[in-house]
Amino acid sequence: MHLANDQLAEPVIAIRGLYKRFGDRVAVDGIDLTVPKGICYGLLGPNGAGKTTTLRMIYGVTFPTSGRIEVFGLDIAQHRRSIRNRLGVTLQDNSLIEPLTPEENLRVFARYHLMDEADINQRVDELIEFLELSSHRDVPVRDLSGGFQRRLAIALSLVNRPELIVLDEPTTGLDPAVRLALWSRVRALRNEGATVLLTTHYMDEAERLCDRVGIITDGKLIAEGAPRTLIAETLAQDTIELDCSPQEEARLLDGLSMRVHRLRAGERLMLHVDHSVALIDHIRSRSTDDELHIIARPTTLEDVFLALTGTSLELGE
Ligand SMILES: Nc1ncnc2c1ncn2[C@@H]1O[C@H](COP(=O)(O)OP(=O)(O)OP(=O)(O)O)[C@@H](O)[C@H]1O
Ligand SMILES: [Mg+2]
Repeated sequence: MHLANDQLAEPVIAIRGLYKRFGDRVAVDGIDLTVPKGICYGLLGPNGAGKTTTLRMIYGVTFPTSGRIEVFGLDIAQHRRSIRNRLGVTLQDNSLIEPLTPEENLRVFARYHLMDEADINQRVDELIEFLELSSHRDVPVRDLSGGFQRRLAIALSLVNRPELIVLDEPTTGLDPAVRLALWSRVRALRNEGATVLLTTHYMDEAERLCDRVGIITDGKLIAEGAPRTLIAETLAQDTIELDCSPQEEARLLDGLSMRVHRLRAGERLMLHVDHSVALIDHIRSRSTDDELHIIARPTTLEDVFLALTGTSLELGE
């Protein structure tokens, strides 16, 4: 029997039946998740879906109500300390020491990991260069912009040359150029053999950066796969967008013989279809508005996300 690579190699993260309750609120509701070595895995989901809670349980700062988490083949409940030595984590809030400079922050973290002084000097220089922090090396953290603080938080999580890097919304609030730079850093780490687990609300980021994504909603993993596969399995390949009222929609689509998946967010209508040309012809032939603006584009992971989580249906309805 032929086994795929990720079935042969021991997974870096293996989660079974993970469940977490805060009082009456169920945050994580029976998640099974496997992350093979050397990939970038993206956890996606609406606000409050349970992503951060899942990452916090992997890091061992929140304890599961039930279920099992293995990291590097070790049970987190028994091996928290030794797992942490091989793990780098940036959670949603940057844990930085405000009065200290980036360089000093990196040194404090390196000492926490019991690195020797020569190694610390080398690693601090490497990370300052890697995350392009040299122009702000000596500026106290409290005087850094949000983007530089985020870069430093990520640098801190890399001090101990982790085999597994966990990043909770690493690029939220960053400008487009810094986001691009960070993607290339994440790719570089993965290409050097590290495994990356991240969360993001940017679907373009997940599509470009992640080898595999999992979509969580209400604490449950509802879909998983390589971005392209997930798109192909969930929706037709073409998408068209236009603004129209529900009444106008009924008229424009009346008599249509092809299968169309519809999604509405306020006035915006999105239609997923195998061949957009025939659909556009149909709509134009029924429209009284010669100027009707129709956008045609390939279906994206964002469309899949909206279709599966149903988030867009709540907007403006
Ligand atoms: N310490 C806590 N005490 C009580 N409820 C909590 C706690 N932490 C999280 N929750 C609840 O658990 C649910 C999941 O929260 P979580 O932070 O994991 O979501 P998330 O997917 O990371 O969302 P976001 O995209 O907004 O960051 C939410 O309903 C949240 O209010
Ligand atoms: Mg979160």
